[in-house]
Amino acid sequence: MRSAKDFFAPLAVGAPAPLREVPARPSRAIHFFDPGNPKMAAKVPDLVGHVDVLLGNLEDAVKAENKEAACAGLVRIGREVDFGPTQLWTRINSLDSPWALDDLTTLVPAIGDKLDVIMVPKVQGAEDIHYVDRLLAQLEAKAGLEKPLLVHAILETARGVANVEEICAASPRMQGLSLGPADLAADRRMKTTRVGGGHPGYLVRADAPEDGGQTQYDAERATYQQDLWHYTIARMVDACAMHGIYPYYGPFGDIADEVACEDQFRNAFLLGCVGAWSLHPKQIAIANRVFSPSVEDVAHARRVIAALGDGTGAVMLDGKMEDDASVKQCQVMVTLAEQLSEIDPELRKMYDEVQA
Ligand code: GLV
Ligand code: MG
Repeated sequence: MRSAKDFFAPLAVGAPAPLREVPARPSRAIHFFDPGNPKMAAKVPDLVGHVDVLLGNLEDAVKAENKEAACAGLVRIGREVDFGPTQLWTRINSLDSPWALDDLTTLVPAIGDKLDVIMVPKVQGAEDIHYVDRLLAQLEAKAGLEKPLLVHAILETARGVANVEEICAASPRMQGLSLGPADLAADRRMKTTRVGGGHPGYLVRADAPEDGGQTQYDAERATYQQDLWHYTIARMVDACAMHGIYPYYGPFGDIADEVACEDQFRNAFLLGCVGAWSLHPKQIAIANRVFSPSVEDVAHARRVIAALGDGTGAVMLDGKMEDDASVKQCQVMVTLAEQLSEIDPELRKMYDEVQA
């Protein structure tokens, strides 16, 4: 057992002190690029300022023979590019692979001061976070870093989902969790072959109509596709909220289906997620749109807050009862709008135009 008093002590002599609160930096789209792919690497500087997070991916989707080139490419990009307001994250290889150790021992000394968050895939339990936590502290101390690196876990194994609360609680470095629907589907033995999104077979059907006392089982009946990911996202959101860290939807693989991508992202947003992955530049725009509260919602939220004065009691607005609890929901919306306004001048203008 570890004393609560030690929780915020650095795990290596000379490592920076852990943060007491995870900074609420906008991260609506986490845009993945392969740092070993010269075409993708060349586009990175143009994306700075247009996306909240750029993530150099070293794990799945990078071929085994290109792992070293990807890591070296990320070092080069980290050193050469000025990321300005955009965060730089990486996804390292999984801890059971032969590459994870090299990823960390290469990246932290070389560009540890440029990296904000290290995404760790296939996290199974607190023990995986503890391993990374100590190793990062040793590497930070050796490199003389002043700011602690944060850790983001991908929830993509059944064991990881079962242990989601302890993963979030495992270290003050924990920044957030992403749903990894593709690996999670495989690990759970779900019968899907897609990367995220829904499935037409996962549905509910309206009851069969009655006719003359007979149930018409063969009649046309409406069906409604259900969300395969609802349970996992809801668990993830609760675990993250409980520990003051941030939940994200992961990848949506059908790049051409922008409508379904937007729906999936919006479900995640409404349930409490703050962002999603982008696998193609056009998904950046979708995520930025979906994970920014609408101008109408922000205007309404400001009206409710203004009407409730000190935030207690009840009032009727447009025929609806608003009270202390609705003010708290509205404050979530307005706080997010303010955070986004700080980095997105267009949004600021739109939100300011509807100032209550
Ligand atoms: C992401 O890594 C996934 O497996 O969906
Ligand atoms: Mg995965």
